[in-house]
Amino acid sequence: MRILVTGGCGFIGSHVVRQALMIPNVERVINLDALTYSGHPQNCFDIEDSRYHFIHGSINEESLLKEIFQTEQISVILHLAAESHVDRSINSVKPFIETNIEGTRIILESIVEFKRLGQDIHLIHVSTDEVYGSLNPEDPPFTEKTSLNPRNPYAATKAASDMLVQSFVNTHDISAVITRCSNNYGPNQFPEKLIPLMTLNAMNGDNLPVYGDGKQIRDWIHVVDHSNGILCAMLGLIMGRLSTGEVINFGASNEVENIEIVEKIIHLTNADKSQIKYVKDRPGHDRRYAMGFQKAKKILGWYPEIEWSEGLAKTVEWYKENSEWVESITSGQYREWLTNQYGETI
Ligand code: NAD
Ligand code: DAU
Repeated sequence: MRILVTGGCGFIGSHVVRQALMIPNVERVINLDALTYSGHPQNCFDIEDSRYHFIHGSINEESLLKEIFQTEQISVILHLAAESHVDRSINSVKPFIETNIEGTRIILESIVEFKRLGQDIHLIHVSTDEVYGSLNPEDPPFTEKTSLNPRNPYAATKAASDMLVQSFVNTHDISAVITRCSNNYGPNQFPEKLIPLMTLNAMNGDNLPVYGDGKQIRDWIHVVDHSNGILCAMLGLIMGRLSTGEVINFGASNEVENIEIVEKIIHLTNADKSQIKYVKDRPGHDRRYAMGFQKAKKILGWYPEIEWSEGLAKTVEWYKENSEWVESITSGQYREWLTNQYGETI
């Protein structure tokens, strides 16, 4: 297997790169990352494996992509590169359309071109539970058969890219699987997302901005479990346990309200409850996500292994111990985002 990981300097991508290198018959792992505001070379700086190679560039650069396919004889793409933050998509959807839809289009058309030349490339398209929309309290978890109902601009661009992938399977007979996962947490997550944002603010004595009533529910999964799932899906597609065009959900049956997470983080950081600030709700805020992952269990033998309380405690510990990483990431640009998003609140 000669793997191209897109977005390998991001949160999940950097874990996928590391875990892919643990598979003995992986010959090569190329990490193509544009190093946007959320991608950091520090996330992969300590990887010394000679099979690993980083290329700074964008999936939207078609000629670069094709050059990599050819010179590296790529046989699998793990496609994670994306604009990933819902709040940013509410402020401006253009970069989401460019990367998540147009970038995926370029990958798909390049795969078709190489297929015609006799080089088959399998695609694992990494998507999200957000494409299914929002659940009411009494609803069962999403399954792979749930209809798509994206409700924010980020989710709409991910759903569009999922449908492009399925249309290319149908019309061009490419080999692809779509994975959809619930909310990830763990080391290396950019601190615009709930858990690292609250952890750093709690440690610094800053306010903890909870949107709306704080009772929104997400199904939290450790990033290592999700990354394992992506690699299981890759092996499943290559070995024929999954057919092209199939969708596979990953989740952790770990539904938690946001406010409960914030309170746990306060406890883990010895912060104070008075730091909690209820702020204006996110527009179009999805109330509840929950993922059914019976298919992944049955077909891939995959299930989440990392227990939530322990995983969260170790994650908070990681942020405490990695002040150099935190400092390099929370630069001027990051402070600017906080001021734009939260005003004087934090
Ligand atoms: P992230 O924002 O931390 O990382 C995204 C990475 O993509 C960054 O390294 C960035 O530099 C890179 N990138 C952006 N545009 C690029 C381009 N044009 N070319 C090359 N690289 C580019 O995101 P993440 O949380 O690691 O998410 C990774 C993927 O997983 C995304 O596709 C996301 O939709 C999906 N996902 C995320 C979650 C979650 O909870 N974070 C859950 C389910 C699915
Ligand atoms: O569900 C999978 C998705 O999870 C991924 O596809 C996305 O890429 C990823 O960003 C994540 O989306 P969310 O919007 O669920 O994650 P976020 O960390 O932004 O928010 C989690 C919850 O916390 C959500 O209900 C909004 C709330 N929140 C978030 C922030 C940043 C707050 O209350 N306050 C905040 O300041």
